[in-house]
Amino acid sequence: MSIRTLDDLLAEGVSGRRVLVRADLNVPLDKQTGQITDDGRIRAVLPTLGALVEAGAKVVVCSHLGRPKGAPDPQFSLGPVAGRLGELLGAPVHFATDTVGESARSTVADLADGQVALLENLRFNAGETSKDAAERGAFADQLAAFGDAYVDDAFGAVHRKHASVFDVPARLPHVAGRLVLREVEVLSTLTADPERPYVVVLGGSKVSDKLAVIEALLPTVDRLLIGGGMCFTFLKAQGLEVGTSLLEKDMVETCRNLLERSNGKIMLPVDVVVADAFAPDAAHDTVRVDGIPSHRLGLDVGPETVAGFSAALSQAKTIFWNGPMGVFEMPAFAAGTRGIAEAITKADAFSVVGGGDSAAAVRALGLDESSFGHISTGGGASLEYLEGKTLPGIAALEN
Ligand code: 3PG
Ligand code: MG
Repeated sequence: MSIRTLDDLLAEGVSGRRVLVRADLNVPLDKQTGQITDDGRIRAVLPTLGALVEAGAKVVVCSHLGRPKGAPDPQFSLGPVAGRLGELLGAPVHFATDTVGESARSTVADLADGQVALLENLRFNAGETSKDAAERGAFADQLAAFGDAYVDDAFGAVHRKHASVFDVPARLPHVAGRLVLREVEVLSTLTADPERPYVVVLGGSKVSDKLAVIEALLPTVDRLLIGGGMCFTFLKAQGLEVGTSLLEKDMVETCRNLLERSNGKIMLPVDVVVADAFAPDAAHDTVRVDGIPSHRLGLDVGPETVAGFSAALSQAKTIFWNGPMGVFEMPAFAAGTRGIAEAITKADAFSVVGGGDSAAAVRALGLDESSFGHISTGGGASLEYLEGKTLPGIAALEN
């Protein structure tokens, strides 16, 4: 792998040069107030932005937020992110109210050395996510016109073949930012030669989202602990009744097959917290997995499961965790996720937390981030990396 890095670019000197930085500032927003609920992804890009500012570059930052449909949509504006980024940088961030239009052009043109601009949401433009290479290319041309060099620090988006991730680096001298570099360094130790036992914890709602990574990990890991909404499809595959819990009917056979091939590496919950409804104040109880009532749904793993998973984690030397164990946003169903997170921090292991939801869970539950080895900013991206897939954003930086 021959990727040039931010340090290579800084060594060339960037004072007075315009540097276009693709960041992943796709932060969660409160649905009611629109406020940023977790600024982890903004903080994660500060080392790269700080170094460029200090070196006197004109820094032009671009990002997506949410999934707008190729046209402006105020609920997905990066405006609030510009404010927060400015607070964290300790200097105002010049916000362009469009991505490649008049506002963007004048904002970039007016930047002084060492100043930072943020362009409006990339996905307000159909060209960003287009499957058509020419349409993406036309948008990439407009973006590339704002930079003399390109830095990719958007680890959370490197698995997307999007204009700002894949096509812009083909048009400008390009390097990997500090965050992208660190993420790839850490994840490559998991695929290359993890210290054993290597234990993976997977949660989240859908088996179908995790199928490819489960297939890729099974031969590699020593233990695979499965919780979260997706455990119910596995429990069903063992012939158990799961009430009204999340169930992917068309995945039951696949799960049965995985269990058969797993050589006992897969551990499933032995007890779960079941509720009358998907609501924070729903009546709930802990039951054994062979006693889930037909009218109730599982919203968390139970204490015996936490104890069993924790015992497996306490043996581990390497841990990867992706996906909450339950609906941790509701306090009544947060104990499973909290318990597993605490077990990970207590283990004498190198631990990696993969992705958006699990990283947000660590912070939302008030856990000490520094007690984990690495908290990735990429959910889908870290999973696809572990699957061994070619990531378009990384491939574009090579050569
Ligand atoms: C993420 O949140 O996973 C990244 O920002 C990528 O977003 P996307 O899944 O909408 O492409
Ligand atoms: Mg995602």
